[in-house]
Amino acid sequence: MTIHICKTYQDMSRRAADFMAAQITLKPDSVLGLATGSTPLGLYAELVKRCAGKQISFRSIRTVNLDEYCGLTPDDEQSYSYFMHRNLFDRVDIPKENVHLPDGSNPDAAAETARYDRLIESLGGIDLQLLGIGHDGHIGFNEPSDAFSVGTVKIRLTDSTVEANSRFFSSPEAVPEYAYSMGCRTILNAGRILLLANGSGKAGILEKALFGAVTPEVPASVLQLVSDKVTVVVDREAGEEILRKHPGAVTVE
Ligand code: PGA
Repeated sequence: MTIHICKTYQDMSRRAADFMAAQITLKPDSVLGLATGSTPLGLYAELVKRCAGKQISFRSIRTVNLDEYCGLTPDDEQSYSYFMHRNLFDRVDIPKENVHLPDGSNPDAAAETARYDRLIESLGGIDLQLLGIGHDGHIGFNEPSDAFSVGTVKIRLTDSTVEANSRFFSSPEAVPEYAYSMGCRTILNAGRILLLANGSGKAGILEKALFGAVTPEVPASVLQLVSDKVTVVVDREAGEEILRKHPGAVTVE
């Protein structure tokens, strides 16, 4: 596992964009696993800029997103589908039929989770999976639990996630209670994994996930099982606890 600690959020975003751009250039029909949340916004803005500047093209790229809220239609402004279109898909040259997310409006969880697993399989798996990390250690919406998930699952969001995500909604009560999420095994099966984190609020959980016990109580800790294909890029604030406890394990930029 390589861990880069960048000076600022902008530096983290540029470094992450370099990584993704390399993947896109070297395999123009890559399957990219994408994430939502505030963490990748700078990365997406940077990719949009590079696409406009013709440095990269999404013409043959296929994407699968990590998760989606249950009960929201893709055109709902709070949906992750809407988020992805507004921040990336509508601003790059990706064909609309190449983008995929779980369908939160499908109430049949068994059918939807099976459909999403089949879809990822039919694409040949994920070449590069982008991840953020939740305050409770979640990846995708895989919340702390007593077992790691395998394929796509319907998850009940924890109070901590509802609280964290309520900033995007009118109130905590408006945050959907459930989400569909890609499973941990699917994430681990990706060819490469790029984990991003910024801000001091992530410093403690990041250190615990990457250097603590591998346990489903900290879902991101599962990344330690495939550490050779994980690249972690964080800003100074998110990296402060790792730098303090494991200074030899990181590259500081
Ligand atoms: P954030 O969310 O990027 O909004 O902090 C990350 C996550 O929940 O995975």
